[in-house]
Amino acid sequence: MARYGPKEHDVLIVGGGAAGLRASIAITENHPELSVAVISKVYPMRSHTVSAEGGAAAVIKDDDSLDDHAYDTISGADWLCDQDAVEAFVKEAPEELLQLEHWGCPWNREEDGNIAVRSFGGMKIKRTWFAADKTGFHLLHTLFQTSMKYDPIQRYDEFFVTRLVVEDGRCQGVIAIELATGKLEFIAARSVILCTGGCGKIFPFTTNANIKSGDGMALAYRAGVPLKDMEFVQYHPTGLPFTGILITEAARAEGGFLLNKEGYRYLQDYDLGEPKPYPVLRSMELGPRDRLSQAFEKEKEKGRTIEGPYGDYVHLDLKHLGERKIDEKIPFVRELCRKYENLDPAKEMIPVRPVVHYVMGGVHTDINGATPIEGLYSAGEAACVSINGANRLGSNSLTECLVFGARAGKAAAEYAAGKKKFSDGLEKIVSDEGKRIERMFFSEHGDQSESIAGIRKEMHQAMEDGAGIYRTEDSLKSSEKTIKELQERLHRISIQDHSYTFNTELTSAFELSYMLDVAEAIIRSALQRTESRGSHQRKDYPERDDEQFLSHSLAYQTGDGTPRVEYQPVTITRWPPGERKYGQ
Ligand code: FUM
Repeated sequence: MARYGPKEHDVLIVGGGAAGLRASIAITENHPELSVAVISKVYPMRSHTVSAEGGAAAVIKDDDSLDDHAYDTISGADWLCDQDAVEAFVKEAPEELLQLEHWGCPWNREEDGNIAVRSFGGMKIKRTWFAADKTGFHLLHTLFQTSMKYDPIQRYDEFFVTRLVVEDGRCQGVIAIELATGKLEFIAARSVILCTGGCGKIFPFTTNANIKSGDGMALAYRAGVPLKDMEFVQYHPTGLPFTGILITEAARAEGGFLLNKEGYRYLQDYDLGEPKPYPVLRSMELGPRDRLSQAFEKEKEKGRTIEGPYGDYVHLDLKHLGERKIDEKIPFVRELCRKYENLDPAKEMIPVRPVVHYVMGGVHTDINGATPIEGLYSAGEAACVSINGANRLGSNSLTECLVFGARAGKAAAEYAAGKKKFSDGLEKIVSDEGKRIERMFFSEHGDQSESIAGIRKEMHQAMEDGAGIYRTEDSLKSSEKTIKELQERLHRISIQDHSYTFNTELTSAFELSYMLDVAEAIIRSALQRTESRGSHQRKDYPERDDEQFLSHSLAYQTGDGTPRVEYQPVTITRWPPGERKYGQ
């Protein structure tokens, strides 16, 4: 009947962003008797949620309905999402956003005091709640300050998780490095929720913060949980060319135009409707992200994009909106353009290009965040429930973090409340892990012919070349070969920094190893899906194939760099697969 001293909790949440904090509050509100902790490699307010801009979707207006939100989400996902999950999502979304309001989130309001909503890509009705264009910042602040009201919620800030402890078929905690001291700790927990966000840093050009290296995905994958639908990687159509900084879709919702080299609103050539002088829902600039990013690639092939020092780009024109509207509705866009492009969008056009923004796939969970391993849960971008299918609609992800963060929190708490005993001898895993880290990263066999930066650069190139907006069997096979070689070569690095305090060389090596594992799942899943659907476009298989592929891919790690991919049918409740039509 083992007990594990002070670092023992009923529920441990890995990740302090929107999903993680929402889960922590749900646990303590439903089970105040449980001890809950949030462990994060960064201080929670530095989680990537903070940089979300445009808003969070939920039905609130009389002209809207849950069925409309569900239909937009399902068609946007090219029918690859589970409709029971989508139905739960749209139903709980308004409750979650109202709850945030009561906790103090400063949602924008209309003149009469009602919640203001804006249009967003692929949605046929305005339903995106927003706090100017810093929605993620305000939402995270609200959750963080609310979490601090609750004594049972403890935090391990700046702790880096190196492995999950799975014994006797149950997840019973994690091993983590305290970054300030270098101490390796076993933190015991009756249930663990992975809320570690996405893995955009696998690609060279991304809106994602440096911390988004797929840690939770890789930890679950290594423990035997499959990664679901990893072939679906979202490119956001409007990132700044050099930095990848997001220029929010809200800029187009407020009336921005996308123009090619000839000053032409090229989206009219791609089944996205007729150009109008004002934004039209589910049309042109407010089409879904996959279609807009694919249209950019086609324009590039036609030689109608603009060549720049950091790749080709097109223009986002906001000048006609005027200074007043820009300052009122999208002030952060103006601030970012001034700081990072040295231009004023009220007077000049903004150079933009597609940029990796989000991964629809993730840790395989059910509708309550449970993974196939007892005691292990996941929520937010790290997880694949799935509501996003082959293409997520903008502004569904903040809401997803809230709805499924709360659900995973409640489910993990119910499980932990059973107070199962910990297995004996778990503390020995710490010394085993210490030896593994020594062997992996500090051993003599590292001849320094390999460097973290060098391997990361080649990984980036392989992912961009092989698994970008358009893919082929050849491009994917060549990337798969490279990723396997890089996994081998990673064993030859040798860390030069032996210090115990904030050893960022060591954490970078871990992150790289996580990214390579997740990369192998992306590539293998993409190779085996011989169809085109949503964000996964195969030049050699340009059609959607519902007969073979109306199913989720589940990639299992095998250890030889080639995951085993199995399939699981998609859940259809009320919306049979149909054609995705925009611009009508
Ligand atoms: O464009 C945006 O503001 C992004 C929103 C999202 O990814 O949900």
